[in-house]
Amino acid sequence: MPATVIVGTQWGDEGKGKLTDLLAQDMHLVVRYQGGHNAGHTIIVGEETFALQLVPSGVLYEHIIPVIGNGVVIDPLVLMDELAILEARGVKTGRLQVSGNAHLIFPYHQQLDALIERRLGKNRLGTTKRGVGPAYADKAIRVGLRMQDLLDPLIFREKLEMVMREKNATLAKVYNRLGYDPEVLAEKYLQECRPVLEPHITDTVRTVHEALEDGLNVLLEGAQATFLDLDHGTYPFVTSSNPVAGGACVGAGLGPRHIDSVIGVTKAYTTRVGSGPFPTELLDEQGDTLVTAGAEFGTNTGRRRRTGWLDLVMLRQAVRLNSLSELAITKLDVLDSFEQLKVCVAYEIDGQRVEHLPYHQSDVHRASPVYEVMPGWRCSLNDATNKSQLPIEATDYLRFLEVEAGVPITFVGVGPRRSQSLTWRPSPSLFRRCE
Ligand code: GDP
Ligand code: IMO
Ligand code: MG
Repeated sequence: MPATVIVGTQWGDEGKGKLTDLLAQDMHLVVRYQGGHNAGHTIIVGEETFALQLVPSGVLYEHIIPVIGNGVVIDPLVLMDELAILEARGVKTGRLQVSGNAHLIFPYHQQLDALIERRLGKNRLGTTKRGVGPAYADKAIRVGLRMQDLLDPLIFREKLEMVMREKNATLAKVYNRLGYDPEVLAEKYLQECRPVLEPHITDTVRTVHEALEDGLNVLLEGAQATFLDLDHGTYPFVTSSNPVAGGACVGAGLGPRHIDSVIGVTKAYTTRVGSGPFPTELLDEQGDTLVTAGAEFGTNTGRRRRTGWLDLVMLRQAVRLNSLSELAITKLDVLDSFEQLKVCVAYEIDGQRVEHLPYHQSDVHRASPVYEVMPGWRCSLNDATNKSQLPIEATDYLRFLEVEAGVPITFVGVGPRRSQSLTWRPSPSLFRRCE
């Protein structure tokens, strides 16, 4: 009954999609457990690039049942678009299962997301403006509509009518904007979305449990990452869900004892999109080199990602928060051209050396990194297929990370393609799956 969680250990875009795709060949179910179409997961297969937002990365394998769990927020129009695009590219999507408990994102959520950002001005969070925050807020105050409501037109109309009264008042009175006609909106969703999505809507908790009871392999694909977590991230510069491994339990309907292994995905350096503290950020040409070499532009919004050195203070915290059992280090090849590499091992705050992530956000903003400097390898790793082909400097870099994190590194990424990955140590989770 192995259940494996894939979780980002930084601020997102670590390469979770690629790792999910790599492991998918051994999986039966791949489940998204939180987030929405704020995610952008890239998978490169041969000459084709897929950028998935809502549909789990396992969809590309025909033997896999892709599942969108109850913890995800779904814009039905975006989901329909994504399914149509995949089908047009020859990917069969009929197997997709969508939780009836997943909440819906409507146009008013997206509009409010943008309006709130505008009101915040220079204090804006830099959200993806996909309506994710406002949709989770409605879920929490219990006025959200769920996927299952699409199946009951009476309930759908009634709930939408009720919630729209308040949304329209807010749009008009706070933001001086026109509202939406709930009847027009209801008609659109019931006419356009219901027929397409109905066959996918189901009890995904049952699907996941029955799979585990049958001894099948379940992969839980996280979106966003540990430091974008609503509870554990750099609040308020976070997303509105719980990407940490514990979120996989809630967002898929599992108990903690169902999870066998947790793989943390860590870029060999750090990136962040949007606002918020970033102690190791590079605002010089080294940062530009990381942007260029790593193609650091958002999969989803196209925004330039902020870049910096790897931060082990954060990584150690991520190990704890997610109970990581192994690490996948991605984009090691992006460091190919550097003569020297820096790794943050501690912070200095008010003249004090601090080795743990400060709980007080102001301290994180004031933290300056204490670096360990390591030699670079100055050659291309792109063609390495085996650990023994890595230069000694790259091996030393990985060994150092492994010791500092206290967790075995299993996968190493040396390029964006499926084939550009190598095994550093045998994965305990893969090993168990092969038994
Ligand atoms: P995700 O959101 O965590 O799935 O990551 P994204 O797909 O948003 O961003 C990761 C980017 O890095 C994508 O463009 C991937 O194709 C690319 N990528 C993944 N692994 C590697 C790697 O090992 N090396 C390089 N150069 N690119 C990689
Ligand atoms: P994947 O799954 C990187 C960031 C946004 C913003 C903050 C809040 O591809 O790693 P939101 O729209 O969620 O309310 O925005 O979170 N953000 C991401 N950054 N990768 C993501 O997803 C992200 N999803 C949200 O840039 O700073
Ligand atoms: Mg991404």
